[in-house]
Amino acid sequence: MNRTPVGVLVSGRGSNMSALIAAAKQPDCPYQVVLVLSNTPDAPGLQIARTGGIEAITIDQRNFPKDRDGHERALDAALQASGVEVVALAGYMRVLTPFLVGAWAGRMINIHPSLLPKYPGLDTHQRALDAGDMEAGCTVHLVTEGVDEGPVLGQAHVPILPTDDAHAISERVLAEEHRLYPAMLAKLCLSLRR
Ligand code: GRF
Repeated sequence: MNRTPVGVLVSGRGSNMSALIAAAKQPDCPYQVVLVLSNTPDAPGLQIARTGGIEAITIDQRNFPKDRDGHERALDAALQASGVEVVALAGYMRVLTPFLVGAWAGRMINIHPSLLPKYPGLDTHQRALDAGDMEAGCTVHLVTEGVDEGPVLGQAHVPILPTDDAHAISERVLAEEHRLYPAMLAKLCLSLRR
């Protein structure tokens, strides 16, 4: 099968990246992860990807002081050079500029740990607790210029239990993230072929 080449952007532990890579091992998966990029050399996800035989590169934002555009042009050049067709943000902790968002419009997705449009940004689980919500969840969406605002591709819901703290919710949600993200990425890659 012809597999869509995917690039994954990370800044941290990379558990969603790992889930995307693991799912791509299935023979019927329509994508393959060909490149992992990080904006920091400290991201544990880099080494996990390399151990899995995937090229993983740091494009360190500190080498582009006050030059977000230059940093993103370097990211874009690396993605293009690897033949990437779809980009998945997986805990990439930097707001993107209109340049990169525009370059990958309709072909860049993100996972966010809330039921968007509720709780864009950080501390999503504590905010859900503080609001007295009965459920939490995660959302996969297309990336647009507004942070955590793009069209929703899919969501997974989990209950919030009376004994939960934010950590307990995050673990329950993360397990769903690892199921939802590969499924939505596969769906997007298939839809882009038609
Ligand atoms: C996840 O909760 C994801 O939803 C959010 O950032 C976190 C990244 O975790 N965008 P990991 O690096 O994938 O483990």
